[in-house]
Amino acid sequence: MKIFYAMLFLITTTFAIDMITPLPDKINYNKEKAILGKKLYMDTSLSKDGKISCNTCHNINNYGVDNTTNSTGVNNQLDTPFNTPTTFNSVFNFVQFWNGRAQNLQEQAKVPLFNPKEMGLTPEFLLKQVNANPDYVKSFKDIYGEITVDNIADAIKEFEKTLITPDSPFDRYLKGDKNAISEKAKRGYEEFKAQGCISCHQGQNIGGNMFQKIGIFQEYPNQENLGRYEITKKESDKMVFKVPSLRNIAKTAPYYHDGSIPTLDACVQFMAYYQLGKFLNQETVDDIVAFLESLTGEYHDSIQ
Ligand code: HEC
Ligand code: HEC
Repeated sequence: MKIFYAMLFLITTTFAIDMITPLPDKINYNKEKAILGKKLYMDTSLSKDGKISCNTCHNINNYGVDNTTNSTGVNNQLDTPFNTPTTFNSVFNFVQFWNGRAQNLQEQAKVPLFNPKEMGLTPEFLLKQVNANPDYVKSFKDIYGEITVDNIADAIKEFEKTLITPDSPFDRYLKGDKNAISEKAKRGYEEFKAQGCISCHQGQNIGGNMFQKIGIFQEYPNQENLGRYEITKKESDKMVFKVPSLRNIAKTAPYYHDGSIPTLDACVQFMAYYQLGKFLNQETVDDIVAFLESLTGEYHDSIQ
């Protein structure tokens, strides 16, 4: 297994050119649906205690996260065992959730609405709440013809297509502006490739396009949730998770699926330890952190 990974790193780091590509400035979406989707995303009346919306945990004014280890859902319950990932750029992930159990954003959106620790609704109660709001009734009639759970999820998905952060300093650097990032960040990018980080965190989302095990060289201490194994029950899927996107990573602490790592600095050091069997000196860690900081992009709310 380790030999396999060693070869993977050798191949991917040798051909690392173009393994990271800039985000598009915009992607196509249906504006009417997205406007409706934003209302739904922000609406606390779509929760059992009337206090929680998608935005409570995935705040769009805070890079799509709430910066807590575990978010708080309805009736003040802690949303364990997972740390809340960002909704920003999630449209570019190949599957949704840490263990990838939703194929797309529409399928994903139906889960938190009915999760007893998140929004805590039943389908009947959700439809009742939406039908009680004349604005919703009109919009759904005009756009979809009727109010259904699938249509609610579809509108939310359409809004999430607007939660993208193009034009990070690193993307500008990739597009040819050689002064867009610091010398330190440039060294960090070289290390990111040379050390082998790029063999897992790659593509336009710098992650989000494959599953990998956490703890390849050193066992990950928290085995409370076994990742994809919980779905497939295959031995080889134990501790396998979706490789997370590193876009806006400096803004979305704490880190890892269990939110156990509070700082980016420690996060990078632990990645090298668990995934690469290496200890990086502090200078290398600092350079990689500077590179990761250059991945913070800009979100413009196009649905005012
Ligand atoms: C109480 C906090 C909470 C609320 C409310 C909540 N989420 Fe989440 N969200 C989470 C957590 C925790 C996860 C990770 C769960 C997992 O991976 O199993 C998650 C995962 C996601 C993901 C997957 C991202 C990725 O990269 O895998 C998306 C997209 C998302 N939520 C959108 C939404 C939408 C849309 C709503 C409202 C309908 C919503 N969430 C409501 C906490 C919350
Ligand atoms: C073998 C694949 C692999 C390699 C190599 C790898 N990572 Fe990761 N990385 C992952 C996986 C899988 C996770 C999610 C782990 C978890 O949540 O438990 C992750 C998580 C992270 C996170 C936290 C993301 C978040 O949202 O919580 C950061 C930051 C990170 N990696 C950076 C790096 C850096 C820097 C390197 C190189 C030193 C590296 N990774 C090498 C697979 C890898």
